[in-house]
Amino acid sequence: MHANTLSPRVSPHPEELIWMDGEFLPLAQARVSIEDRGLLFADGIYEVIAAFDGVPHLLVEHLDRWDRSAEGMRIQPRYGRDTRVDVIHELLKRFSAPRVSVYGQLTRGAARRAHTFPAAPRPMEFWFARELQPYQPVLFSEGVKVITRPDERWLNCWIKSISLAPNCFARQDAAEQGAFEAIFHREDGVVTEGAATNFFVVKDGVIRTHPVTKRILSGCTREFVLQVARQHGLAIREEAFDLTFMRNVDEAFITSTTINVMPVTRIDDAPVADGKVGPVVQKLMALTDAAVRQLREDSLAALR
Ligand code: PDD
Repeated sequence: MHANTLSPRVSPHPEELIWMDGEFLPLAQARVSIEDRGLLFADGIYEVIAAFDGVPHLLVEHLDRWDRSAEGMRIQPRYGRDTRVDVIHELLKRFSAPRVSVYGQLTRGAARRAHTFPAAPRPMEFWFARELQPYQPVLFSEGVKVITRPDERWLNCWIKSISLAPNCFARQDAAEQGAFEAIFHREDGVVTEGAATNFFVVKDGVIRTHPVTKRILSGCTREFVLQVARQHGLAIREEAFDLTFMRNVDEAFITSTTINVMPVTRIDDAPVADGKVGPVVQKLMALTDAAVRQLREDSLAALR
């Protein structure tokens, strides 16, 4: 890659830096066209990647999903993975916070408004970093409340699309009810996932979660946590379950890039079992934390 593309021309506060279509610039100076299809049609995809002590967590997994999402949306990015990796590392180098989230977005770009794709699309891509504020420890020690909501999203939830109105509505409802997350269920009662998380329950020692189908986003954290659980001999069933099943479980938790594993101790107006964080979730939180630390140590060691 050409060195200029990674060398900011200005030196603003790192938090304010964005990489957009080949160059770094202050976030406040970044401009998109009114006719960008991301703006007009939510015609785009995104990724959120966490970095701990400057090391991006599950980078390959996130970039693989980026590729799948772009392909699913039939958007051909102008930049390749090497550029993306360089950009992310460069943003992290300039950002000294211990916990950072890196946000990337790709749209089909600007074109005269028409539902059909432009004949010669010029996709728009940008990446920026923000400090990842830690959640209060009490949320992990006591667990959080979630509410349930009908899953009113489209049927291609495997694509990390920027079209997030139903997710925003559900999260807003949750916030208004003092809940951390909203868990979606389809019309047949099948529980899919959270508005911005994957959802798991534990019943009789078995971890259960919706299988990877078009109805959920295959969370990078979901896959990581299941791998950790498998390595430690925990029983897992990637099988759909419904609301009735969910209301009789022993434990529950959610996963995502920004939380890793967070216990759920209240669903709608009822506690999960006795309302305390159960042993399987406690174990999984500890194992996941250790596995995240280990990955980071391995990456740092590889760089030395
Ligand atoms: N959300 N399901 C949905 C619908 C999501 O939006 C997300 C992530 C997840 C978890 O995926 P991962 O473990 O790869 O973060 C599941 C991100 C964090 C967001 O929208 O901010």
